[in-house]
Amino acid sequence: MIQLEPATGDQLPELLVLDAEASAWPWPKTALSRHLAKQQLWSAFEGSALVGFVVAQSVLDETSLLHLVVGRSHQGRGIGARLLALWLKRLCAAGQQRCLLEVRASNAPALRLYRKLGFTEIGRRPGYYPAESGTETAIVMALVLTQPGADLYRP
Ligand SMILES: CC(C)(COP(=O)(O)OP(=O)(O)OC[C@H]1O[C@@H](n2cnc3c(N)ncnc32)[C@H](O)[C@@H]1OP(=O)(O)O)[C@@H](O)C(=O)NCCC(=O)NCCS
Repeated sequence: MIQLEPATGDQLPELLVLDAEASAWPWPKTALSRHLAKQQLWSAFEGSALVGFVVAQSVLDETSLLHLVVGRSHQGRGIGARLLALWLKRLCAAGQQRCLLEVRASNAPALRLYRKLGFTEIGRRPGYYPAESGTETAIVMALVLTQPGADLYRP
């Protein structure tokens, strides 16, 4: 079972390691610290193991998913799907109307995960991300949380 809790300062070193190991483009400490201080960071636990995290920011009734990480050694076991489903369920319960995100066009695992959870592409931003050589397109995706009859993904 996955549990999501607001991240605490003492977890920051572990969160940075998870991101560095999992992401091709990990976030700097300053960025994670800033979102931690604003209570926009949630840690995901499987038992006592810190296995991932979510960074998100809400404005009125819309929430942007800014970063989602599952530790490299925990990937491919459905943790990303379960943690995202749990987090979306909470957003919905909190009255949020829509979740938005941007993802690198080359990030196949993340795209597959987001589509599986019901996100659909609503736009593209060419040249949005820095890349190994030049830049990379961002795919903008959205999920309406309160559509009548909406059936959020259940793992
Ligand atoms: C994206 C990420 C969170 C997925 O976490 P995960 O726990 O491995 O995901 P799950 O095991 O729940 O798998 C979810 C879907 O992604 C797919 N997937 C997982 N790893 C994959 C890979 N290497 N290649 C292609 N698809 C992959 C799975 O097949 C699954 O779809 P399916 O059930 O239809 O087969 C994880 O890969 C990660 O942390 N990546 C680095 C950070 C990142 O890029 N975050 C997204 C930023 S927008």
